[in-house]
Amino acid sequence: MRINADQYARISRLLEERAGIRLGPGKEYLVVSRLGAVRREYDMPDFEHMLRALESGTPRALVASVIDAMTTNETFWFRDPTHYEILVRDLLPALGGDRVRIWSAAASTGQEAYSIAISIQDAVAAGRLPAGLSAEILGTDISPSALRQAESARYCGMSAVRGLSPEQRQRYFVGKDDCIELQPRYRRNIRFREFNLLDSYALLGRFDVIFCRNVLIYFSPERKRDILERFAQVLNPGGGLFLGSTESMNGHEDLFEMQRYGTGLVYRRR
Ligand SMILES: C[S@@+](CC[C@H](N)C(=O)[O-])C[C@H]1O[C@@H](n2cnc3c(N)ncnc32)[C@H](O)[C@@H]1O
Repeated sequence: MRINADQYARISRLLEERAGIRLGPGKEYLVVSRLGAVRREYDMPDFEHMLRALESGTPRALVASVIDAMTTNETFWFRDPTHYEILVRDLLPALGGDRVRIWSAAASTGQEAYSIAISIQDAVAAGRLPAGLSAEILGTDISPSALRQAESARYCGMSAVRGLSPEQRQRYFVGKDDCIELQPRYRRNIRFREFNLLDSYALLGRFDVIFCRNVLIYFSPERKRDILERFAQVLNPGGGLFLGSTESMNGHEDLFEMQRYGTGLVYRRR
């Protein structure tokens, strides 16, 4: 499959409009390699047919399949470990209360949401957080295939080792070979659902903590601002937001106050 400059511009526009994802220049190879299988699945003779179908909106499922294929779902266990430490050592104790709601807003295949659950349960078991603490975690993502894996809590190959020590693999999972499955007790109180960050947050409820890491980098400054404003609206007073360690809050200090703990940052709602 080959694509020309006009087709690249059209697919880029569609991805930006529907998912906020900006491809930028020179990613033709990515489009070709990721969308070849989708084209075959929908029995489209060439890329132009696929683009016309996308632009006309029929079949409807095609847009979702294309977005799914074009998302980068890279993630791993306990990524940026200082965030999990700040969560249980500083943020949750400062919030107080016996119930917290946490949103993993670009959950991908689930490692982030499960790392949160494990960190909280370990801290409760160690007496660092109150025994009666109830933590509800919502994991959302635009990618249905990533969410299917998150819901299964089963990980094979690299995703079964990346970020985990052998001791953690043994403690939190069952199965030792190529594939491991998270123990059921770490899966309680976690729900996953498909959700586009460009859509309204009104039906999601309010949160005490939001993890939105390594996704806003793909968005335009205007979309990023809009999302940060809406995060501030759904965060409870004093609530905290974690961004990826290479992402910044530059220009949005009116919404969040930066708090530094060692090498980690959390943004508290003003
Ligand atoms: C690189 S992963 C980051 C996963 C995890 N937060 C982490 O830091 O390890 C980015 C995720 O954002 C999701 N994503 C991209 N655009 C999105 C959108 N508009 N709404 C919701 N999720 C989106 C992708 O499907 C992907 O799973």
